[in-house]
Amino acid sequence: IIEAIRSRRIWDSRGNPTVEVDVTLEGGHVGHGIAPAGASRGTREAMDLRDGGPALRGMGVGRALASVDDVVAPALIGRDASDQAAVDAVLLSLDPSPLKDSLGGNATVAVSMAVLHAVATAAGKPLWLHISDTYGAAPSIPLPEVQIFGGGAHAGRRVDIQDFMIMVPGAGSFDEVLEITNEVYFAAGDIMKRKGKLAGVADEGGWWPAFDNNEEALETLTNAINAAGETPGKNVVISLDVAASEFCVDGRYRLALEDRELDTGEMIDLLGRWIDAYPIVSIEDPLSEADPSGMAEFTRRFGKKLQIIGDDYLVTNASLVREAASQGACNAVLIKVNQAGTISEAIDTFRAATETGYRCVVSARSGETEDVTISHLAAGLGTGQLKVGSFTRSERMAKWNECLRIQDELGAKAFVGGSPLSATWWG
Ligand code: PGA
Ligand code: ZN
Repeated sequence: IIEAIRSRRIWDSRGNPTVEVDVTLEGGHVGHGIAPAGASRGTREAMDLRDGGPALRGMGVGRALASVDDVVAPALIGRDASDQAAVDAVLLSLDPSPLKDSLGGNATVAVSMAVLHAVATAAGKPLWLHISDTYGAAPSIPLPEVQIFGGGAHAGRRVDIQDFMIMVPGAGSFDEVLEITNEVYFAAGDIMKRKGKLAGVADEGGWWPAFDNNEEALETLTNAINAAGETPGKNVVISLDVAASEFCVDGRYRLALEDRELDTGEMIDLLGRWIDAYPIVSIEDPLSEADPSGMAEFTRRFGKKLQIIGDDYLVTNASLVREAASQGACNAVLIKVNQAGTISEAIDTFRAATETGYRCVVSARSGETEDVTISHLAAGLGTGQLKVGSFTRSERMAKWNECLRIQDELGAKAFVGGSPLSATWWG
């Protein structure tokens, strides 16, 4: 039974205010939830309620805190917390708007996560175990997708493509993935320093590059994998988040760095050349959220050998996943709890993905905090993959480190990597 709900303003990794919620159950068990914040957002995802105005660059969360304290708390206090679906249904009934813009997705997600944590604590279970028991999933330690260079909205649009990442599906353990990631990350930094291409770190901790074109990032990443003593395409492969909605204007893809504009067919051809030339196994949002025929065409051409993830394209929405499946667009979905706005909606999306045969990648946002719920979500649901940004900065490392703690409870054998997952992707 929910006894108290309390909100407070805290600050995220970009120094912006965000919402933290404590939920206290009868018996004194407390759970915390913190809302993350995106910078390259899909237009159909739950909206953060911000105060606007001159203070805090309009980013204040006073109204979102008021949603929690004045609207949500009175409706939830006295209710059974253990029925997460019922709790989330109350949140939805309080704000039935499709984008949750009356309560704010930042308010609903913090409450929803805090309830989940509180119930796990009351049950005396680690969160991942509570999730796997509640939703009947087989837990596992996910394969990381780790950013090496940041771009797009996370690096002043210094390059058009948003994330240049590596995956190490050939690794035998989660620890080995992190070791190899460390080597590749610093090798990439060394190469960039030597060439005068290093301009700092981007929002998610990856290097902020000063490349002359997008392909230079792919070349440098491949060189970094070699410099780390690994063979690109063997153990270590490349994953991109193109975040194409960000630079698609009126159906044309504007590559600002290269000063050219492509139509859908040319954009697909460009990505096709990169896929041929570099060991790329996964691409997120290769085309815009407003280009469903392009996404279907891209999936038709490359879906057999590539993981094609919808992020802005699917916004953690179960109906959009089913619709995409019926159109043959994408073959995987990014799961960001705050895009949906509640845990239950994110779980529904996971279930829709399981039904349609889509892979799931649980993901952080570019604005993050010490909250590690997503590490437990990925492990507890056994989604297989986790994307939290780069391999520096504590809001990122907190998530990787939490997976190490979960591994201690779950056993090293629970790591999903290795050939079974990778063999279907290439070779
Ligand atoms: P975000 O983007 O800035 O909206 O969190 C992350 C992503 O596109 O995966
Ligand atoms: Zn994305």
